[in-house]
Amino acid sequence: MTTSPADAPRLDLKDHIRGIPDFPKPGILFYDISTLLRHGPAWKEAMRRLADIVRPHRPTLLAGIESRGFLVAAPLALELGLGFVMLRKRGKLPGAIIGLNYALEYGTDRIEMQADAVRPGDRVVVLDDLLATGGTLAACIALLRQAGAEVPAAAALIELTSLKGRARLGDTNFEALLAYEG
Ligand code: PRP
Ligand code: MG
Repeated sequence: MTTSPADAPRLDLKDHIRGIPDFPKPGILFYDISTLLRHGPAWKEAMRRLADIVRPHRPTLLAGIESRGFLVAAPLALELGLGFVMLRKRGKLPGAIIGLNYALEYGTDRIEMQADAVRPGDRVVVLDDLLATGGTLAACIALLRQAGAEVPAAAALIELTSLKGRARLGDTNFEALLAYEG
């Protein structure tokens, strides 16, 4: 598909997301962003739209959730002229670490960050590719607050609305570029 910059405001980002059935397990429809990432103009337009969502919250810092959230947070930080911090899966970060365990459908997971990554007074907007149950993002918000940051907002490319993840985010504003029933 060819796209000129003049087409960008009308570009339908859903044309660039693939639904892959039965991945990673039977019955799950996986929303694959690989096709969005490999299309330069569509990816650029997605970042432009996310920047417009995030900018009004006046962040001093962005945070990206490993791993697909890094794909979103890094270019957005450049676009907004901000730094970003990594929220990582267990055991990946060096130095002094703080972390939070959170429940999954089966079992628990853990998210970690470096203890000095944020300071009291930082306004951090959290980025991920997708909001499903909201468990991951809710834990990330709680961890950032525990470290003293304000978290006025979070944003993602995709929200699976039927899973009602945004209900778990408390008073943190949440917006996604695309909504799917899930
Ligand atoms: C996926 C997705 C979100 C999270 C959403 O990440 O990228 O981070 O799940 O799920 P939730 O709203 O139900 O918590 P995943 O853990 O599969 O790993 P990845 O980003 O490293 O691919
Ligand atoms: Mg993820």
